[in-house]
Amino acid sequence: MQVSITVNGAARVDDVEPRTLLAYYLRDTRDLRATNIGCDTSSCGACTVHVDGDAVKSSTVLAVQVDGTSVTTLEGLADGAELHPVQAAFRAEHALQCGFCTPGMVLAAVALLARNASPSEREIRDGLEGNLCRCTGYHNIVRAILTAAEAMAST
Ligand code: FES
Repeated sequence: MQVSITVNGAARVDDVEPRTLLAYYLRDTRDLRATNIGCDTSSCGACTVHVDGDAVKSSTVLAVQVDGTSVTTLEGLADGAELHPVQAAFRAEHALQCGFCTPGMVLAAVALLARNASPSEREIRDGLEGNLCRCTGYHNIVRAILTAAEAMAST
């Protein structure tokens, strides 16, 4: 089947098999490897991307289901050499250990801050409950999102 999907601002038409998951379309067809696949149970969130601005687990939707949409992956967040404030905060607060969950965490955090620009620690923890860190590095991740919220509020 043909799909027309804009990824990180680049529109393209591709032939995909109807069973192709969005995560595999991004990794294999668009060659964007930041989107990780960490489970086959829809539980880990490592595959989180944005579809028309909403955080979506890309292993839970088919590429054909997002035909006509605009998808953002981690590769599309930075503005040239300038990191997105959430990326910068993850770096500043060392909000990663092995890094496998980081792309999904960052995209989930960006979507969370778009819904709630000044979340409490509790709201961040609740908002990220669909994203698992296998290193259990949640403390620094939450701190990074609080830092990012402050940085984004002051710009
Ligand atoms: S790989 Fe998509 S939720 Fe785990």
